[in-house]
Amino acid sequence: MADNSENVLNHISFIMDGNGRWAKKRLMPREFGHKQGAKKFREIVQYCLHDKGIKYVSVYAFSTENWKRPDGEVKGILNLFVEYMNTCIKENDENKTRVRFLGNRSVFSEEIQAKMAETELVTSKYERTMGICINYGGRDEIVDAVNKLISEGKTHITADDITNNIYTGIMPPPDMIVRTGGEYRLSNYFMWQSAYSELFFTKTLWPDLTKKEVDELIEEYKSRQRNFGGVKNA
Ligand code: IPE
Ligand code: IPE
Ligand code: MG
Repeated sequence: MADNSENVLNHISFIMDGNGRWAKKRLMPREFGHKQGAKKFREIVQYCLHDKGIKYVSVYAFSTENWKRPDGEVKGILNLFVEYMNTCIKENDENKTRVRFLGNRSVFSEEIQAKMAETELVTSKYERTMGICINYGGRDEIVDAVNKLISEGKTHITADDITNNIYTGIMPPPDMIVRTGGEYRLSNYFMWQSAYSELFFTKTLWPDLTKKEVDELIEEYKSRQRNFGGVKNA
């Protein structure tokens, strides 16, 4: 295996897929899988930020396409989201994590939007950052950025303009994107940011992911050769 242990890991991102199948295997409703997935999310984010010392973690929690799911499932996911924000606001000192929401929030009720703003505000004193992609769509994100620039009077748009106006803002692009659940696609995730991300796909269903497997994925990341279009040791 190549030794590229100098590969920096500033940002790790997870496409948390497989909750529904995890529940189905147990003859339980999909909502049960999402509940277990939410627990796993807390464990893995905490592990990456505070045990592994990674500065940025992001997760794909709900896509702009996930509204197609049955009402009950969507409601269940949104309830878990609100529950999570409540614990962030209450137990913030334990989490020590700065929370940022990435996505189009205008579709959410005023109450949820206010809670999102409060969660971001009370956690803003921390450095380690977690981005939660909720009502997130990679294409919409780029279109929104372009429209914002147009409304500001721009007539010529550069790549830097887009980078500075997408939802991720201050977060660097992900070095690693890990998709659980065995599907080999990005499903409209980080279309702009993933240009040079290292991609990892595991068959493990999200609720079954372990810290040990995260460690193994990070080890594999370190062995990858990142070129960014250049030639190593040129
Ligand atoms: C991912 O798990 C969570 C969300 C999309 C909200 P799924 O619910 O997609 O689980 P599978 O893919 O059906 O197993
Ligand atoms: C991607 O998973 C979205 C999230 C994990 C939030 P999906 O389960 O929605 O993706 P597809 O529909 O299988 O591509
Ligand atoms: Mg899925």
